[in-house]
Amino acid sequence: MPGTLIEKFQAAFADAGAPKCFRAPGRVNLIGEHTDYNGLPVLPMTLTQEIRIAVAPRADGRVLLKNVDPAFPALEFLNDGALAPSPPGSWDNYARAAVAGINQVLAPERRPGFCLLAEANLPSGAGLSSSSALVVACALAYMDALGLALEQDLSRLKLAGILAEAEQFVGTRGGGMDQAVILAGAVGRACKIDFFPLRVESVLLPDDCAVVVCDSTVKAEKSGAARALYNMNPRLCHLGCALVRAQLSEEFGEDVDIERLGDLWYGPLCLTTREADALFTRAVPEGFVPLTEIAKRLRQKPERVTARWLKEVPVLNGGYNILARLRHQTGEYRRVETARDAMMAEDSATLGRLMNESHASCRDHLDISTPELDRLTEIALESGALGARLTGAGFGGATVNLVPADRVERFVETVGRRYYGEYLGRDGDAPIFIAQTSPGAGPVQV
Ligand code: GLA
Repeated sequence: MPGTLIEKFQAAFADAGAPKCFRAPGRVNLIGEHTDYNGLPVLPMTLTQEIRIAVAPRADGRVLLKNVDPAFPALEFLNDGALAPSPPGSWDNYARAAVAGINQVLAPERRPGFCLLAEANLPSGAGLSSSSALVVACALAYMDALGLALEQDLSRLKLAGILAEAEQFVGTRGGGMDQAVILAGAVGRACKIDFFPLRVESVLLPDDCAVVVCDSTVKAEKSGAARALYNMNPRLCHLGCALVRAQLSEEFGEDVDIERLGDLWYGPLCLTTREADALFTRAVPEGFVPLTEIAKRLRQKPERVTARWLKEVPVLNGGYNILARLRHQTGEYRRVETARDAMMAEDSATLGRLMNESHASCRDHLDISTPELDRLTEIALESGALGARLTGAGFGGATVNLVPADRVERFVETVGRRYYGEYLGRDGDAPIFIAQTSPGAGPVQV
């Protein structure tokens, strides 16, 4: 479809009113992986790759969705009653999540609909948050239909919080990193994000290095097969938290209110990372722990443990390595804090080292890496990167690399040849780009 987004919209929805346009950027996470849902910090930045939408409100409550990319069929739903999700993988779920989340929190008197045409230059399934960008864009469309303006009527962080909750509608138990950086990101800066309450501190990006993104080309669609894999870590962390709580009540003789692992640092106990690590070792046996042992420690029946904490995680006869997950949390928390300090001190060597440690922990403690991501990071380090790690949920997607500015050209050439050419046996352009930041999501003139 040639033409501007507005012209494409007019061709797609001949009877709709004049559209407005909004954009929502993708993001790449520098460090702090699988920590957000435990209430522990992350350090992502926005990208210039983004989703753009043209939208016009409808009074009849119908939400009509079209996409310039033919891989996404035209879909529609009625904004009426309690919205139910479509089957997993159906892209209207992202719009349903946004509309349902806003309805639930703001309880608007009217339930308008909208016509929406989306186009994106943000690859999906690459760990660059195309799903959350779409949810944010749909939320901006719905707010416009409701006559609400971002910032004046609803703050960026409040909307981010609503949408982080709402995305669970799509079936993943994500934290709030993606929605927060997409809405509150800034040019030239990464966002150090803390949760409960959500807060964002902007941190200047290094000027002696480029942030380079390399797509492993292994697709990790959050709405597809990667969903169950992704959910496993939040579930095991939640279970780990219950074991820690059981241990604390044994030691203190009374229940200590710990809702998520991050509460150990910020909550009633205010532990140091060293104390948290020691507590984890007392609360959870080393290695793989069978369900029966977990149930015994929690004084629950195994079926209850499955129903309450493990949910869709398959029952594994060999058990679950929960302590490894907890150790990732303490290490990654310390790495995010140190990375922020290193960026403020313009110490790119330290930032790079922390990124490498983060990758190793994601691989060894969380099991979220793949042979391709491991190979890609190895080649990146041999090609001049100071740091290289998987970024996002894992199980495929992209790596993020910290590359000294004067080595970028050689880096791109060498990784292109060695990973895409020799390792994957691919021809053509390598899916590598230098990440540039963009402002947080909002209205855009096209
Ligand atoms: C996905 C989720 C985020 C976060 C990352 C892993 O992108 O949406 O909330 O948990 O995975 O760090």
